[in-house]
Amino acid sequence: MTLIPGITIRSAVESDAAEIGLVVQTAFGMRPEESLQEPYRRLFPPQEAIVAVDGERVVGHVESTTFTLTVPGERTVDACGIAGVAVAPTHRRRGILRAMYTEQHQRIEAAGLPLTIFTASRGNIYGRFGYGPTTRGSAVSIDRRFAEFLPTAPDPGGVELAVLTEATAQVRAIYDRWRRLTPGAQVRPDAQWEITFLDPERFRGGGTDLFALLHPDGYVLYRYRYSDSVEIAEVVEIRTVTADAHAALWRTLCGLDLVTRIEAELTDNDPLPYLLTDPRLVRTAKRFDGLWLRLMDVPAALNARSYQRDLDVVLAVTDPFRNAGGAFALRVRDGIADCTPTTRAADIELGIDVLGSMYLGAYPARVFATANRLHAKDSWQVRAIDEAFGAERDAVPGWFF
Ligand SMILES: CC(C)(COP(=O)(O)OP(=O)(O)OC[C@H]1O[C@@H](n2cnc3c(N)ncnc32)[C@H](O)[C@@H]1OP(=O)(O)O)[C@@H](O)C(=O)NCCC(=O)NCCS
Repeated sequence: MTLIPGITIRSAVESDAAEIGLVVQTAFGMRPEESLQEPYRRLFPPQEAIVAVDGERVVGHVESTTFTLTVPGERTVDACGIAGVAVAPTHRRRGILRAMYTEQHQRIEAAGLPLTIFTASRGNIYGRFGYGPTTRGSAVSIDRRFAEFLPTAPDPGGVELAVLTEATAQVRAIYDRWRRLTPGAQVRPDAQWEITFLDPERFRGGGTDLFALLHPDGYVLYRYRYSDSVEIAEVVEIRTVTADAHAALWRTLCGLDLVTRIEAELTDNDPLPYLLTDPRLVRTAKRFDGLWLRLMDVPAALNARSYQRDLDVVLAVTDPFRNAGGAFALRVRDGIADCTPTTRAADIELGIDVLGSMYLGAYPARVFATANRLHAKDSWQVRAIDEAFGAERDAVPGWFF
């Protein structure tokens, strides 16, 4: 396919590997970690990648794979996950990303996948392609020395110190239970577990290799790091199926006597601050989004999740990139949706990127209404859609890609 004079968009072939490597390394400013190459190729099969070629030279790259993604209501849906988006700095701002994305999204549509997800390097690029941020959280820092639990905080115990290499089966089994409950979490393939457990020294930020704490319903993977003579416990991953596991694991982390600071990432409704006598100890260092999401097929995507209340609403969705928009009647009864194209007049008008943000329940419609990006005939319809689109659990990307 030629959308830009002189530039061909085509499937990658084996002989492109070295040039793809150079473009991707240059774009992201890092050399590959040898030990991760083989599992990474299994995660994102190179033969499914798309490249942009100038003459004989690769100047752009996009790769993708199919994820099984949990959506609200403990349901799962197949979604395309995009990664490795890179254009050579010699060829930027000529429309190569747009051309590769056009091809990529045609392929996703042909494969019949109702959703597409990725993690974005910048916040100002992907709205135009119909994506909205759909998970969010905070990087927090806790001065462990002052952390005291309220008398009402559960103290169930049950945590054991584990050697990670001996506990991989338990960790994987708990992750799998957790991801079935958690919107945004993906099935985690063997190759991704290999990458986690390999834990190459280069990516430890000067910290130790991974330590593990195990509870029958949760786990923590963390490392120790010294910074300015302060000992830090950096939580790399905490996954809890039950409130007891959450309390028990945090009590254990707060029992790391010689640690000054615990660093972790929490979703907005994580109960940790409310287990402590001083909720301000959980200090927000940074806010971030994680997953970005796009609906490829509005009725299929809206029918795939469940809802928190009954609803009868006509949505007018605009999609300048793919033309997947239109008017859709969304009727919900007992959590189950029946969404179909309609000719009825719209109650709510919104962009497909806004719908992507709302999809996993983490971004309320009322905020977009105030921001003039969602328009409703009546304000009660915004309240109704907010309640309906909520989720039982905060959305979290299960693993980063
Ligand atoms: C981001 C990147 C892929 C863009 O590639 P590109 O070929 O220059 O992008 P295009 O020329 O096709 O631009 C597509 C659209 O995005 C916009 N855009 C691209 N990069 C942008 C940026 N950094 N900031 C704001 N807008 C940007 C363009 O203005 C254009 O808008 P329009 O089509 O509505 O006019 C490229 O700069 C890159 O490789 N960056 C480093 C690696 C990276 O960040 N990858 C993305 C990981 S998610």
